[in-house]
Amino acid sequence: MTDRPTVLVTGGAGYIGSHACRALAAAGYRPVVYDNLTTGHRSFVAGELVTGDLLDGATLARAFADHKVTAVMHFAAASLVGESMTAPQKYYVNNVQGTLSLLQAMRNAGCHRIVFSSTGAVYGNADSKALPEDFPCAPINPYGASKWMIERMLADYRAAYGFGAFCLRYFNASGADPAGGIGELRDNETHLIPRAMMALQGHVEFAVFGDDYDTPDGTAIRDYIHVTDLAAAHVAALKLLETGHAGGSFNLGTGAGFSVREILTAIKQETGREVPHTVKPRRAGDPTYLVADPSAARKVLDFVPRHSDLATVIRTAWAWHQKAHPLKSR
Ligand SMILES: NC(=O)c1ccc[n+]([C@@H]2O[C@H](COP(=O)([O-])OP(=O)(O)OC[C@H]3O[C@@H](n4cnc5c(N)ncnc54)[C@H](O)[C@@H]3O)[C@@H](O)[C@H]2O)c1
Repeated sequence: MTDRPTVLVTGGAGYIGSHACRALAAAGYRPVVYDNLTTGHRSFVAGELVTGDLLDGATLARAFADHKVTAVMHFAAASLVGESMTAPQKYYVNNVQGTLSLLQAMRNAGCHRIVFSSTGAVYGNADSKALPEDFPCAPINPYGASKWMIERMLADYRAAYGFGAFCLRYFNASGADPAGGIGELRDNETHLIPRAMMALQGHVEFAVFGDDYDTPDGTAIRDYIHVTDLAAAHVAALKLLETGHAGGSFNLGTGAGFSVREILTAIKQETGREVPHTVKPRRAGDPTYLVADPSAARKVLDFVPRHSDLATVIRTAWAWHQKAHPLKSR
């Protein structure tokens, strides 16, 4: 029906995957979403959806057979750090075994290009400095460990089977498509910005987990990268794979860190309202400081964050939340 190259987007009904699908379509590709809709949303899928699980080899094989898939963007995963501490098996089965199943299907179909969602959580506990890719990977939670294992697998598939594989280590994905319609929406929201906004709306309680970290204001520091910038980097990685590039692991962040308290202040500046909150003890598995050195991605992927200043992140996230969860209270 179309000559546009088809990209199978696992997890394309989720937050980041749905933004990547919009970027793929805009760049002339045909995204076909493969998703089991556990945390994803049918309404986020603009094009074609194959409803299936990564572990369901037969449905995966059919997806490759039915569509002339030239490459895969692999977002599908369980991705809650806290949950991974208490339910590690879910993380190793869904993420590691699920990816093995996907890689098997790719090999069977003769598809050897993949862009994989890795994470800054592969680094574990870092010093208070921006992390380059050669900083030793020593994840401190099963979520990060599952992603690190997949990176190792992809390195082996690169060497043995000639795969082209980019592992994009995102730091904290944030914000929403300024065009509207998609954003962060989870039943059990644990990410800082969306949870703070839901608290502003009166839907949930908000806690700052730990104010005794070794940081200037005692709260943990993260690097927030706008989801639209992440989506653009995926398309850039895919285009490089098409030139025969073998891929590799790259950080996607801004290089600037903000503490939890600084985020709450930025939300107040944008919305005019204070996020009601309590302070609770640190959460197991949360590092103190996680900030990217994005210079390698800048060089190789031409990665320049264009939407990731804090004001744009907060503004687009707030616009989305007002649409997604109409205000309960002022
Ligand atoms: N959100 C972040 O800040 C962040 C940071 C670093 C890395 N990542 C990674 O980016 C990817 C996307 O994250 P997100 O925030 O969009 O999460 P999300 O939960 O919104 O999206 C994940 C999608 O994968 C689907 N899925 C999960 N397991 C599946 C399976 N076994 N088979 C088929 N579909 C399955 C879900 O239904 C969902 O649509 C994940 O791999 C995550 O680990 C996210």
